[in-house]
Amino acid sequence: MRVLSGIQPTGRFHWGNYFGAIRQYIELQGRPDAAFYFIANLHALTTVRQREELSRSTLDAAMDLLALGLDPARATLFVQSDVPEVSELCWLLMTGAAMGLLERCVAYKDKKARGIRADAGLFAYPVLMAADILIYDSDTVPVGEDQVQHIEVARDLAGSFNHEFGETFVLPKAKILDHSARVPGIDGQKMSKSYGNTLAVFEEPPVLRKQIMRIVTDSRAMDQPKDPEGDHLFQLYSLFAGPQAREAMAATYRRGGFGYGQVKKALADLAVEYFAPARERRKELEAHPEQVRQVLADGAATARKKAAEVLLRAQRACGVR
Ligand code: ADP
Ligand code: TRP
Repeated sequence: MRVLSGIQPTGRFHWGNYFGAIRQYIELQGRPDAAFYFIANLHALTTVRQREELSRSTLDAAMDLLALGLDPARATLFVQSDVPEVSELCWLLMTGAAMGLLERCVAYKDKKARGIRADAGLFAYPVLMAADILIYDSDTVPVGEDQVQHIEVARDLAGSFNHEFGETFVLPKAKILDHSARVPGIDGQKMSKSYGNTLAVFEEPPVLRKQIMRIVTDSRAMDQPKDPEGDHLFQLYSLFAGPQAREAMAATYRRGGFGYGQVKKALADLAVEYFAPARERRKELEAHPEQVRQVLADGAATARKKAAEVLLRAQRACGVR
C-alpha cells in the first residue's frame, strides 16, 4: 500500500491548502516507504517562468511542509525533478496516450476555451502526472476534486499499457480529500490564490490580524440574531475552535447582540496561536536550509530506488531494454 501525492510550488500556502489538503496528507503519514509526497516543480513550470521564483518556491514549499508536520521519519519528501526516471516513463506513456483523452482534460480545455495559448507541456500535463503516480507503484492518491480526472487518466494509461504489454503497472485510485474542508476566503468565495482572497499559513501575526479585520461581513445591526451556519466568518472560526468554543460562538450568533469585530478578534487570536508552533519550526528551518536540502536529497534517493525498478519493468515490457 503506497499513498502518493504531489503539491505544486506556486505561491505560499494558504489556509485552504492547509485544511483542504496538507493537513490530510500529514494525517496519512505512516512509514516512510508507505507515504510519498513530492513538490511538483515540473508541473509548476507550465505556469511559473521565473527561474529564481521557481527554485525559491520549491524550497519554501519543502520548509512549509516540514514545519507543518510532514515528518521524514514517517513519509518520503522529495522534489519531482530530482527523479529523472519520471520524465523517461512519461515518454513511454505518451506514446500510448490518445489525443482525444488529453483534449478532454480540463486544465488544457479551460485554457484553450479562454483563448490562452497552450503549449505541449500543458497538453501533456496529465501524462506526466500519470508517470508520477505509476512510477512508484502507488495505489492511493489523495487529491482535491479538481484532480480526480487526472487520476482517471493515470488509471486509463496504466490499464492500456498493461493490456498491450502485459501486467506492468499498479492501477491507482483517487482518495478524494474531505470536501467539507472547503475553506472560504476573506470575500466569502472559495479561498484561492487566483481570487486574491487568501490568508497565508505563515503570515506574520500583525499582518494576519489586519487581513482578518478585512473579512467581508453583512451589514446586519449588532443586536440582530444571525445564523452561524451560512456565515463564512463563522466557518473560518470553526477551523480553529474546539467543539465547545464553536458551540458557544454559534449560540452568540443566534442570540445576537454582538459585533463581527469581536468574532474577528477571537478568530485572529485562535489562528495566531494555532500556527505558532509551525511558525517557530519554520524559523528554525530557515536558519538551516542545508538540513532541508538534506531531507530532500534523502527523499529523492529513496524515491529513485523505487522509480528505477518500475521504469526498468516498463522498459522491458515494451521492448526498449
Ligand atoms: P489555489 O486554488 O489557491 O490555486 P491549488 O489549486 O494550488 O490552490 O490547491 C492545492 C490543494 O489545496 C488542492 O488539493 C486543493 O484541493 C486544496 N485547496 C485549495 N484551495 C482550497 C480551499 N479553499 N478549500 C479547501 N481546499 C483547498
Ligand atoms: N497536478 C497536481 C495539482 O496541481 C499536482 C500533482 C502533480 C500531483 N503530480 C501529481 C498530484 C501526482 C497527485 C499525484 O494539484
